[in-house]
Amino acid sequence: SWTMSSFIASAIEEIRSRVGEERALAALSGGVDSTVAAVLVHRAIGSRLTCVFVNHGLLRKGEAESVRAAMQALGVPLVYVDASARFLAQLEGVVDPEEKRRRVGHEFIRVFEEEARKLGKVRFLVQGTLYPDVIESGTALSHRIKSHHNVGGLPEEMELELLEPLRYLFKDEVRELGKELGLPEEIVWRQPFPGPGLAVRILGAVTPEKLSLLREADAIVTEEVKKAGLEKKLWQYFAILTDTRTVGVMGDRRTYAYTVAVRAVESQDGMTADWARLPYDLLEKIASRIVREVPGVNRVVYDITSKPPATIEWE
Ligand code: XMP
Repeated sequence: SWTMSSFIASAIEEIRSRVGEERALAALSGGVDSTVAAVLVHRAIGSRLTCVFVNHGLLRKGEAESVRAAMQALGVPLVYVDASARFLAQLEGVVDPEEKRRRVGHEFIRVFEEEARKLGKVRFLVQGTLYPDVIESGTALSHRIKSHHNVGGLPEEMELELLEPLRYLFKDEVRELGKELGLPEEIVWRQPFPGPGLAVRILGAVTPEKLSLLREADAIVTEEVKKAGLEKKLWQYFAILTDTRTVGVMGDRRTYAYTVAVRAVESQDGMTADWARLPYDLLEKIASRIVREVPGVNRVVYDITSKPPATIEWE
């Protein structure tokens, strides 16, 4: 029968025989997939793998720190690059969602290439591509509604061979694998997060102020969903910063501030999704904490559309 430990053993053997005496490079995004792929390859080839973690400044609260801590705990060395300022400059004034994706994608390649060049001769690029990504990107049947830049892009430009040790696995199997490899719950159960990060959860132009506002609101959503014990039941749960401001009242003062939207969905693979019937008291807790604790927000709405016809992300 198929077990995780026998998968690990054969995956390691396969990676070793393919890589031989060459070197590999892994790009960490903070997500489960890229982290599990990197840890697995590290098990196989040790110091012949270099992991690069580009912080594009569009991550959630505490995310960069927790990835760095987890990799350190597992003894996987990490080249950490804080490129926030560069990405923010690229995004200045950009409103169109696909243009945001393009700019983040291109800047990512530039930063990553600069790091790769410092390392000298590298032959392989590790990617956390999963089976559904392979299907979605590779067939004529797939409608590419949003240009997910997880797959493709890097290899042609860098002439690296792809090493995709997770390409026959589904998400739940990757989580199981991560657990088996010793990754903490916090990373194993991390929800899917788009490559362009918070840039596609801020409607309109991205600014440092909006980023920090959204980070705080999103952290409240995460915290309350976890407290309610629902994080393993939901595919994704997060906050969106709309570009709508509305009138409110606080004490005896009129306010004119932003609306935050909360999104929570159940899904098997992200292709279709059902809006989550969160308990009213959980929604109440989230809304009251956000307006109380996040300055600049006076209204919270809950997204009750499923996919299709909506998508999971707002951009
Ligand atoms: P949508 O919004 O298309 O999202 O329903 C489906 C799943 O894909 C994630 N997503 C992305 N992932 N780069 C990514 O790596 C992207 O540009 C991107 N856009 C959406 C989304 O979070 C959901 O899990």
